[in-house]
Amino acid sequence: MQQRELGKDGPKVGAVGLGCMSFSGMYGPTDEAEAHRTLASALDLGVTHLDTAQIYGMGLSETIIGSFLKQNKHHFSIATKAGIITKPERRFDNSPELLRSSLEGSLKRLGVDFVDLFYVHRREQERPIEEVTHTLVEFVKEGKIGGFGFSEISPSSLRRAASIHPVRAVQNEYSLWTRMPELGLIRACKEVGAAFVAFSPVARGMFADRSPDPATFADHDIRKRNPRFIEPNFSANVAAISAFRDYAESQSISAATMALAWVLAQGDHIIAIPGTRTSDHLQQDAAGGAVQLSAEQMSRIDELLPPGFAHGDRYNDQQMVGVERYC
Ligand SMILES: NC(=O)c1ccc[n+]([C@@H]2O[C@H](COP(=O)([O-])OP(=O)(O)OC[C@H]3O[C@@H](n4cnc5c(N)ncnc54)[C@H](OP(=O)(O)O)[C@@H]3O)[C@@H](O)[C@H]2O)c1
Repeated sequence: MQQRELGKDGPKVGAVGLGCMSFSGMYGPTDEAEAHRTLASALDLGVTHLDTAQIYGMGLSETIIGSFLKQNKHHFSIATKAGIITKPERRFDNSPELLRSSLEGSLKRLGVDFVDLFYVHRREQERPIEEVTHTLVEFVKEGKIGGFGFSEISPSSLRRAASIHPVRAVQNEYSLWTRMPELGLIRACKEVGAAFVAFSPVARGMFADRSPDPATFADHDIRKRNPRFIEPNFSANVAAISAFRDYAESQSISAATMALAWVLAQGDHIIAIPGTRTSDHLQQDAAGGAVQLSAEQMSRIDELLPPGFAHGDRYNDQQMVGVERYC
């Protein structure tokens, strides 16, 4: 597994981390025992960075990681997030009070007194990012967090925050079917010394060896309302990706491994966080951190899945609220 810096001043972590949103059942049923098996195999595979958030199962994902850490003396580099309020309606709050109480709740559920990385999950547009950055710097000074980051922000917001204090990471969706960060964000991260953390690198299951079946999605499955998984887009996407899957097979690697290796090849400051419930799938994902794709393979992938191949937006209008879409 390649090792990469979690930001210029951050710890070294495996280039493939583990997204723990799946532990809260957002992509299908699971339980604590299965999540613990996945966490146990993570370190064997060199997967040392865990990504979670307060809203993943309203604390459930963090609680499961916490119960695992209580029984096992493993050391992971943990990132969590705050700033999204879901009830009575979805809104964003980046106030010092909310960020502090959320961080304290996360530390308690995780059973730790420090996390390496604390993200603002979505920006509260009315609140200047400079003010939010000062709040986060306080948490660093208090020794509660090693560094901080932002999710779904634009290059200009990143630069404003980084002018006050080093930003450890920016987390946005990035994969072969979501190329927007190439319009400046990946480069801005490099410039300011932040890691670019790519979420949903397996395209929410589309780059797996078999396509997911929307007929089996539970009501709360986040793909149920995602335009790319709704017809006619879904069938068009399955058709486009099948040639990529065949190509991966012809190269004797799984499609997920190839998709992750492609993401990591886009910059040495990129860390990918696939989300999975199972250790079998994690094994395929982690393998992406050890594969170096050849120039010929990169060029063939580009022919099969060129930028813009995907049908449908990556989020519906409601899911897009809070995302800074400009570059
Ligand atoms: N900041 C944000 O706003 C934001 C948004 C979304 C996600 N995230 C973070 O990013 C992490 C990853 O996002 P994601 O979960 O959407 O990533 P993803 O890995 O692209 O998608 C997860 C889906 O892919 C499947 N999958 C993963 N690896 C597989 C494999 N090798 N073979 C077959 N299926 C596979 C999973 O199914 P199985 O469970 O069956 O393996 C699950 O259905 C999340 O856990 C979360 O921590 C952040």
